[in-house]
Amino acid sequence: MTREHEKVQQPSFEDKPDNAAVERAKVEHNTAFWDVRALLHEQGEAENINVHVQEISPVSDVKKVSAAREAALADLQAAAACLRQGKTVAFPTETVYGLGADARSTEAVEAVFAAKGRPSDNPLIVHIAHRDQLHELVTEVNAAAEALMAAFWPGPLTLVLPVRPGAVSPRVTAGLDTVAVRMPDHPVALSLIAAAACPVAAPSANRSGRPSPTLAAHVREDLDGRIGGIVDGGPTGVGVESTVVQAGDDGTVTILRPGGITAEQLSAVAARVATDPALLAEGSGGDSNSPAPRSPGMKYTHYAPAGSLCVVEGPPAAVAAWTRAALAEAAQRGERTAVLAFAEHAEQYRANAVFSLGDASELQEAARRLYAALRSCDEQGATYIVAEACSREGLGAAVMNRLLKAAGNQLIQVG
Ligand code: TXA
Ligand code: MG
Repeated sequence: MTREHEKVQQPSFEDKPDNAAVERAKVEHNTAFWDVRALLHEQGEAENINVHVQEISPVSDVKKVSAAREAALADLQAAAACLRQGKTVAFPTETVYGLGADARSTEAVEAVFAAKGRPSDNPLIVHIAHRDQLHELVTEVNAAAEALMAAFWPGPLTLVLPVRPGAVSPRVTAGLDTVAVRMPDHPVALSLIAAAACPVAAPSANRSGRPSPTLAAHVREDLDGRIGGIVDGGPTGVGVESTVVQAGDDGTVTILRPGGITAEQLSAVAARVATDPALLAEGSGGDSNSPAPRSPGMKYTHYAPAGSLCVVEGPPAAVAAWTRAALAEAAQRGERTAVLAFAEHAEQYRANAVFSLGDASELQEAARRLYAALRSCDEQGATYIVAEACSREGLGAAVMNRLLKAAGNQLIQVG
């Protein structure tokens, strides 16, 4: 068998969409829309709601809350009721919007796969609001996992743990003997999960293969008419998904997917931090002999814009020179061009659309803006897109991982 042939056999979203699921989801839904932004501060910073929705009796708190807050709390209750009835509800987390369903209900979870067109072998993360919910889901939490939860929950860290048989639908775990669990650091997500009073399975609320949503409007673009409802809590904060890890009994924490909690942060708590070897193969000419990733989702070509995208890495001046020339050539060929650049270079590029990812030394901003920028490339009809690489340290590991996935691993080294 030739190498070429093996490549074709590599699973990816493009050659393995779950068509039957997509067909099933064409059943029309009347997607409800709840705007609960009144529960948050204007800058998008979360106010400490800090009470479970169930405990907020609309009568007892009525004097304290404004009419808008009251309406928003009632909306959260309605959304929670939807989840309890086995419907799908999209909601904000601190990372990206998730598409939630009662993790115990196979029917509800299947509706999530169907709405997204998600391959069924890609397991879902289960979201909880309280530590008490964890022991119902898993059989064992080792010392290393305990330490991580103490340090980073609630927050953008997902732990892969041994699943308690029967605790969640087998569709959630895609037949694995582990379940991925996280406690999001977002008052709307926490209140919704607490009010629904069930573990909530939630992948990112995008159609499979599209960038994850960082605004309720992105969820609408992808899933309106396919899901039960959308809770609008304004823009998400981190912008890239949670870090997925597995903690070994020897104290080694293995990163299966880089994300909002950095390797450096994990190192401060864990005895040793390792990275799934399948991830290290990325962007370094990883071929079909690369090991299969332990996080099944990492093998799919996610986030790809419609246009061709390449990532350019090297000394800043060489990156800028290469990019300027490539954009000019592309424009001459008649391409519609777009560039994702750091603030120091953004102004010097000539393209149909220029997206600034913020300062190269402040990668929180790049993480926050990345998915919206990729979506905008499609909106602008860009056919040729160049993205500047960033440092792979800190949050840069997650940003580069997502950029390279979006680029189908097209990395150009210059200088
Ligand atoms: O920030 C996030 O994690 C967002 C928000 C909504 O919480 N969720 C999210 O879910 O990114 P999703 O489904 O897009 O990605 C889940 C990732 C996939 O790569 C999946 O393969 C992996 O977690 N995963 C889930 N269960 C797993 C398991 N038992 N073992 C290994 N990887 C698992
Ligand atoms: Mg996703």
